[in-house]
Amino acid sequence: MASSSRTENKDHYDLCTDAASAFDTDEKYFKSTVLYPLFLSRKNALLPSEPYNSFLHWRKEYFTLHDLIKEINYTPTSRRQNFNKRFTNQPQKVAENTMNLCRDLMVDMLRNSKILTEQRGNISLVLSLCAAPGGFCVPLLDQLPHCRVLAYSLPTEVGGLEMLYEDERLTFVSKDVMKLNSTEIEDQMQEIDLFKTKFGLICVDGAWAEVVGNRDKDSTDFKGSFRILFGKTVALKLKELLLMLESLEQNGVAVIRVSIKYYGLFGTMILIILNIVFRNVEFFRSTYEQSHNQWSSQFAYVICHEFVIGELEKGKSMVSQWLESCQAGKPTEEFGKLFNEVTESSIANCIKQQEQYFGELAEDFRRNHEQLRRENGDQS
Ligand SMILES: C[S@@+](CC[C@H](N)C(=O)[O-])C[C@H]1O[C@@H](n2cnc3c(N)ncnc32)[C@H](O)[C@@H]1O
Repeated sequence: MASSSRTENKDHYDLCTDAASAFDTDEKYFKSTVLYPLFLSRKNALLPSEPYNSFLHWRKEYFTLHDLIKEINYTPTSRRQNFNKRFTNQPQKVAENTMNLCRDLMVDMLRNSKILTEQRGNISLVLSLCAAPGGFCVPLLDQLPHCRVLAYSLPTEVGGLEMLYEDERLTFVSKDVMKLNSTEIEDQMQEIDLFKTKFGLICVDGAWAEVVGNRDKDSTDFKGSFRILFGKTVALKLKELLLMLESLEQNGVAVIRVSIKYYGLFGTMILIILNIVFRNVEFFRSTYEQSHNQWSSQFAYVICHEFVIGELEKGKSMVSQWLESCQAGKPTEEFGKLFNEVTESSIANCIKQQEQYFGELAEDFRRNHEQLRRENGDQS
C-alpha cells in the first residue's frame, strides 16, 4: 500500500530510467508551443549524455528501492509520523524546519561557495527577498559583523511563513514581493545606510507557501493545483529577479534558488538569463544531507557574481517582458520571441552546468542506494 500511494504522487520524470523515455513522453507537451525548438535543442544535447542518463537511472533506482525498504521496515503509524515531521500543515513547524534548513544552507554557502568565500569581505548591505523565517539571516549577521540586512516576506495573514528571527541589524518588512518596487527598497535603504544605493548581496529565495512546506502533499487540492501554483512560482521568481537586477551592486553577489525540474524548461531559461547578465555563475552543491533529501532534486541554489558590462539592460528587459506575459496569464506566449536571440553557445553552456549538477545528484543517489542496500542486508 505504502509504495502505491508514493507512486501516484510521483511525476512521470521520477519514473523514467533513461533520457529517451523521458523525452518521448514529454515531447507531446511541447510540440504545439513556442518552446518546441528549445525542447528539441535540449533533447539533442541531453539524449547522448551519460551523466543525464545515469541521473535518471539512479533516481528511479533510488525511489524504487526506497519504497521497497519502506514497505518492509515501516509501519503506517511511523510513516505518518515521519511524514508529519517533514510536511506538516502547522505553520509554526514549517517555519522552524525551514529556518533550520536555510540557516545550515547559508553556513554551508559562506564556507564552501567559491564566490561567497571570495566576496564575503566586500558585503556590507544584504537584501533578502522572501526572507521568512530568517534562516539565511542568522549566519549572515553572525559571520559578517558589519553587515546589515533588509528583508521582505509575505505577511502571515495571507499565508506567508512567520519571521522567527530578530536582530538590531535586521530590518524586516512584512510585504508581498509581487507588490514591491525598487524605489520603495531604496527609500527603505536610506533609513539604514544613507551612503549606499545598492546591495552587496541579494538572496532570492521565494517559493509560494503552498509549494514549499505548508501543505499536505497527499491532498487532492495540492495535486490539482500544482500546475497553477507552478505558474505563480515562475512569476514570483521573475519579480524577485527583476528587483535583484535593479538593486544589486555592479560587483555584487546574488544567491538564487532556481527550479531545475525538467518540465517547463523555466529553470533552464532563468539560467540562460543569469549567464547573460553575470560574469560568474556557480551551481552550489550543498554538503548538508537534509537539504539533499528534501530539495536538491527540485531546486538548485545558483550563486552569481559581477554584472557583465552592457548586458544588464538586456537581462532586465528579458525578465520584465517575461514577467508581463506571466501576469497576463500567458507565461509561454512571448517566450519564444524573447529567447530567439539567445545564442546556441549560451544554451549549451547552461546545459553543461545542469548536466554536471545532475551528474553529482546521480552520484548521491548511487551512494544512498548502496547504503540502503547494505542496511537491508543485501550484499549482492
Ligand atoms: C523557502 S522560504 C524562504 C526561506 C528563507 N530564505 C530563510 O532564510 O529562512 C520561502 C518564503 O517565501 C515567502 N513568500 C512566498 N510568496 C511570497 C511573496 N509573494 N512575497 C514575499 N514572500 C513570499 C514564503 O512565505 C516563505 O517565507
